[in-house]
Amino acid sequence: MTNKKSAGRKIPGGKYCRVTFENGIAWVTLNRPEKRNAMSPALNREMIRVVDALEGDPRCRVFVLTGAGESFSSGMDLKEYFREVDKLDYVDVMRIQRQTEEWQWRRLTHYAKPTIAMVNGWCFGGAIAPVVACDLAVAAEEAVFGISEINWGIIPAGNVSRALADAMSYRNAMYYIMTGETFDGKQAAQMGLVNFAVPRAQLRGAVRKLARKLIEKNPATQTSAKIAYKYARAMDWDMSADYLHAKGDQLKVRDREGGRAQGLKQFLDEKSFRPGLGAYKRKAR
Ligand code: ACO
Repeated sequence: MTNKKSAGRKIPGGKYCRVTFENGIAWVTLNRPEKRNAMSPALNREMIRVVDALEGDPRCRVFVLTGAGESFSSGMDLKEYFREVDKLDYVDVMRIQRQTEEWQWRRLTHYAKPTIAMVNGWCFGGAIAPVVACDLAVAAEEAVFGISEINWGIIPAGNVSRALADAMSYRNAMYYIMTGETFDGKQAAQMGLVNFAVPRAQLRGAVRKLARKLIEKNPATQTSAKIAYKYARAMDWDMSADYLHAKGDQLKVRDREGGRAQGLKQFLDEKSFRPGLGAYKRKAR
């Protein structure tokens, strides 16, 4: 998608992350296949820049996170993120931890664009955090997930335990945290960690179809709806009721295409659509 706003823009990414654009979809690929896309401090710093650049890039209407080769990500880099960081001063350790969190869940959780994790293969430990932070997740049936921390003597930190509390039942999370056993994409879908799983050969096509469905909706409403849900689930009923009213009022200002008024007009006056069965007709964009 090239228009006035995107003309002349660079493609973000670099050594550890590849970005390609396809009709509003930004395919963001962790690109260290020789290390199964293990997340090192350098990769994390690059990802902060990529995530930030794409949020403001009109070529990105939907952000899809995936991995190069046979792996989504083998988790945190055991050499560069653990062994080498162990030798550093605590201030540097804190900075490196914060940089990791910055893209893996803090920015992605409340991102201004819809996000999809496309789990193509191995997905271990720290890689669970960005999967949960993305709004939606789709896995290859053949993908292998593991909360493998217990296997090598650490706990699921990096907010993985917190992410699991959001995305898995108590029993399932405890089982996999305590056994370190793996599970496949089909099981991940049954447990609700991903929305659905398809054979690997169909994965990109299925994600493309889902992304297109998201792109068709009013973008300001889409963003407000997902952010409102994520915040509201942590509030009590009275607080969330008031917050959601305020958020709805905010949307009236933010939604430049006036979706609400269009929807009311097309249903009540023109009788040209049924909001229960599909979206109002948006002006050509
Ligand atoms: N950190 C650093 N290097 C890694 C990681 C990792 N997490 N995962 C793989 N690599 C490296 C290997 O050391 C190897 O490097 P080398 O070629 O220089 O020897 C290369 O990637 C390929 O790894 P293999 O083990 O040979 O690949 P294989 O396809 O046989 O197995 C698998 C893939 C299952 C992902 C295996 O590499 C593995 O178990 N990795 C670790 C998974 C894990 O538990 N990650 C940490 C989770 S805990 C956390 O994230 C906080």
